[in-house]
Amino acid sequence: MAENSSNSLIGPFQGTSPALLEKRMKKLGRPIGAKLARGLAGQAEQNIRQRLQNGGKKMPPFRHLDGKEVNALLSYLKAHVGAPESQGKPVLVMQSVSRVGEHLVKGTCQICHDATGPGVGRMGMMRGIIPSLASFPWEQSMQSIVWQVELGSRMMMMGGQRMPAYPYITAEESAAAYLYLLQYPPYY
Ligand code: HEC
Repeated sequence: MAENSSNSLIGPFQGTSPALLEKRMKKLGRPIGAKLARGLAGQAEQNIRQRLQNGGKKMPPFRHLDGKEVNALLSYLKAHVGAPESQGKPVLVMQSVSRVGEHLVKGTCQICHDATGPGVGRMGMMRGIIPSLASFPWEQSMQSIVWQVELGSRMMMMGGQRMPAYPYITAEESAAAYLYLLQYPPYY
């Protein structure tokens, strides 16, 4: 996870841990009991679940996450912020290749790439026009997608936005995104 995005998640996720909440309030000189801490932490977690379902002011909704996946996400983030209840062990879920690809496409690639529409060709991309996800299975090889995600844009740009590198996304995950788009192409 990128450092700057996880920094801003630390506060909200510490708030979902009764133990961390008790500790924080004690430090602030306003100690609360275990029962109140459990209640407040439960509310904080409910808020995060609702935000994933409905989106926030700027954050888009993540409705493609099912219940088990949201549980796994919350437990990962709780372990990440050091909640003692999680004992540093996030919940694991088994996923099919196409589901892994779907998560990557919907959670990351769609932030910038439209689902449908034509590819834009090299000249278009040099001007910063972003090709659609639907064009990938036709115009890209699996290997070129893996490299693009790992290394970011290596293109000479003549303006517009350049794709950043995502070094934390594995080659297998990028390949899964390609297979997902091949199997479930968004229509032109
Ligand atoms: C922050 C915005 C952004 C995100 C997120 C993003 N891209 Fe891109 N992508 C771009 C831009 C801009 C271009 C066109 C210019 C370039 O290559 O930088 C591009 C181009 C591409 C190309 C064409 C490269 C070529 O040279 O033919 C591929 C393939 C690609 N992206 C795959 C992905 C995949 C897969 C994801 C999700 C893991 C993703 N992108 C996420 C902005 C983004």
